[in-house]
Amino acid sequence: MKIGTVFAITTLGLLVSVHAMAQKTLAEATKGKFLFGVAVNMQQVNGVSPIESELIAKEFSTIVAENCMKPQPTHPEENKFNWEDADKFVAFGEKNKQVVTGHCLIWHSQIGRWMFVDSTGKDVSPEVLKERMRKHIYAVVGRYKGRVKGWDVVNEAFEDNGSYRKSKFYQILGKDFIKYAFQYAHEADPNAELYYNDYNVESPTKCDGIVQMVKELKAAGCRIDAVGSQSHMHINTPSVAATETSFKKLKDAGVHILITEWDISILPSPYDGANISMNFKYSKEMDPYRDGVPDSVQQKWNKRVLDMFELFLKYNDVIDRVTVWGLSDTGTWLNGFPIRGRKDYPVLFDRNNQRKSVVDDMIKLTKKY
Ligand code: XIL
Repeated sequence: MKIGTVFAITTLGLLVSVHAMAQKTLAEATKGKFLFGVAVNMQQVNGVSPIESELIAKEFSTIVAENCMKPQPTHPEENKFNWEDADKFVAFGEKNKQVVTGHCLIWHSQIGRWMFVDSTGKDVSPEVLKERMRKHIYAVVGRYKGRVKGWDVVNEAFEDNGSYRKSKFYQILGKDFIKYAFQYAHEADPNAELYYNDYNVESPTKCDGIVQMVKELKAAGCRIDAVGSQSHMHINTPSVAATETSFKKLKDAGVHILITEWDISILPSPYDGANISMNFKYSKEMDPYRDGVPDSVQQKWNKRVLDMFELFLKYNDVIDRVTVWGLSDTGTWLNGFPIRGRKDYPVLFDRNNQRKSVVDDMIKLTKKY
């Protein structure tokens, strides 16, 4: 909560302005280092819980849509676009004077099947798919031209072993689908920043695959400003060292880095990834903190947040943005992924929309960099 400036008169009678550290916001504390953002859902855009909408406006300098700009919601059928939610989302960011990020243009998940098939259900030709991609990208990027700072152009094109994911895009067009997507996005808004986004970027083989792709895109004359590391993390993995290695490799490849979907699950994990089609059976052992998190576990989570945040600060010359994937533990997608019906505690505000104590420590850390 912002209390503002507290004035105190010292014994010498001097007027001293004291900013209460704890009241500083994350957006203020990270200013000049990187943008600090949050993923926003439509209830928050629509003000269903005004306190959440206010927190988003106050604590963060940038927002991204958790779902409403993805291919399926914006373009559910070949000749049908839905702009209502995305329009509201962009206007919400503008009203709050926040930088708006676009997520995402080309992704194998949350996309209508129509994109890949003809009227008989058979795969379309490479030329037809290219044209559909072009129309989709031109429509979405063109609509928000000049209002969205940058786009996740392609999401999750790699497997963890560094090979290309055998998505429909890849099956029909080969790896060139990535190049086409970046070209179309650049044509639609030449001033927009363009990003490649993926999870488990800390996996050495995956990171190497991404670096190679960045080099190929640059050699082909494509604009690519940054690689987004989703950073869906767990309480024990990935290590800080592995994360740092991935930052070094990306930095050496001449791209900036974005932490695009940061959260740190506190729960036991059956799977270290963020492929949204993965789903595991519920059991009580996998959902141990229904009645609260024991102090020792909470301390461990806090340390993990601070270790990672310190690494982000250390690389703030190349990290342009850190975005948390969701405002509070109430709405986090991890309550439903990769096991439905659990109770996770992975983000910076609790179930009562209170800022967690670790945030004050994060703010203190910013002073060191
Ligand atoms: C997730 C959303 O948080 C959920 O609400 C939705 O049901 C599925 O997608 N990688 C991404 C994000 O790039 O778009 C995903 O978001 C999480 C994994």
